[in-house]
Amino acid sequence: MCSLSNKRIILGVTGGIAAYKSAEVVRRLQDLGAEVRVVMTPGAEEFLRPLTMQALSGHPVHTGLLDEKAEAGMGHIELARWADLLLIAPASADFIANMVHGRADSLLAAIYLATPARVAIAPAMNQAMWSHSASVENINNLTHRGVTIIGPESGSQACGDIGPGRMEQPDSIIEQASNLFNSGVLQGKKVVITAGPTREALDPVRYISNHSSGKMGYALATAAIDAGADVTLISGPVALSIPERCRGILVMSAKEMQQAALGFTEGADIFIATAAVADYRATSIASEKIKSGDDKMTISLEKNPDIVSSVASTFKNLFVVGFAAESNDVETYAKGKLEQKHLDAIVANDISRTDIGFNSDDNEVSWIDTDSTIAFGKRSKAQLARDLVAQIAIKINPTHLD
Ligand code: PMT
Repeated sequence: MCSLSNKRIILGVTGGIAAYKSAEVVRRLQDLGAEVRVVMTPGAEEFLRPLTMQALSGHPVHTGLLDEKAEAGMGHIELARWADLLLIAPASADFIANMVHGRADSLLAAIYLATPARVAIAPAMNQAMWSHSASVENINNLTHRGVTIIGPESGSQACGDIGPGRMEQPDSIIEQASNLFNSGVLQGKKVVITAGPTREALDPVRYISNHSSGKMGYALATAAIDAGADVTLISGPVALSIPERCRGILVMSAKEMQQAALGFTEGADIFIATAAVADYRATSIASEKIKSGDDKMTISLEKNPDIVSSVASTFKNLFVVGFAAESNDVETYAKGKLEQKHLDAIVANDISRTDIGFNSDDNEVSWIDTDSTIAFGKRSKAQLARDLVAQIAIKINPTHLD
């Protein structure tokens, strides 16, 4: 089973006798290291108290679309964007019909419409309701839209009937939800990723750096691991932990990052440069702390090596993806870097915006290669990373289009 560690999951609970089983789903998700937020429909509250789910998840349960207090915290759009997975268990016949028709008459229905995350539902209803042609058509419709249907299982039902319609058991729901993150599109591929800032020392206590948090690069590492790749993450100084099942190489300066990149990319298939490398370093690093005193100070800087260019020119059979951090004419400048640095693709983001780019949980980018430009609208870096990994997989293996 693929790890759900650090995955952000909204567990949606709708009205039905199976709602009591969703308490076990929360517990199992948390055991596996997922971050869980619970959203309950008014129908669900008839079967299960939000307080129970709050105690289990450790977070307030979201219930109302027009709840001012909740909207002032994490509003429904923000919540929809936060998630890596929207898992609805149990999903009632009525809620499934609402999903099909795109109705936003409850918080959960609005989140379904607004989320860029994967969506999975575990239907639960009476066997005759499940077999009705309306339900069959609704399920087909959602499947066609990419919603994953988990179960239902067959057996004796609360109403006394026997047949299909019982919500799948929590363990099975968790296993199938977990498999959603394991796309396998980079199975057998070796991927090297640079992330975070570099730090260029001026003296023993001072340095030149930038605001890169590493979130974009670390999200790409996780997405590549989930896609089956063997991942090496070369990271500048950040406050994040190296993802599980990933080789982490910690560096400080651009020169160290270049040395690691050239050393670890031999035999790799894909190189992704998300790092915000300092373009310049001090010509000489003072061995003692530079004394303050003068009103003005001049620091002499020299150019750092261009890491991604040196990797692209050293390893010929490598698919190289750069990132372009731009504040104006984003696509024009990004296209220039694509050519100058001999990259296969570049991912352009506008770093003048505070809601995306540096140190934000979200990003909005354009993927640019020699054939195409694709816009990836604003979404969580985790989701974007999965979308970019899927795009890379298509590019390195064009026959793999599913
Ligand atoms: O880390 P986060 O807080 O999540 O923020 C993500 C990000 C904004 C840092 C990321 O999305 C991003 O834009 N990364 C590229 C930052 C950058 O340095 O861009 P650039 O346009 O200056 O460089 C273009 C490319 O050349 C980049 O792939 C960069 O890694 C690479 N480069 C640049 C200079 C250099 N000396 N060596 C390089 O390899």
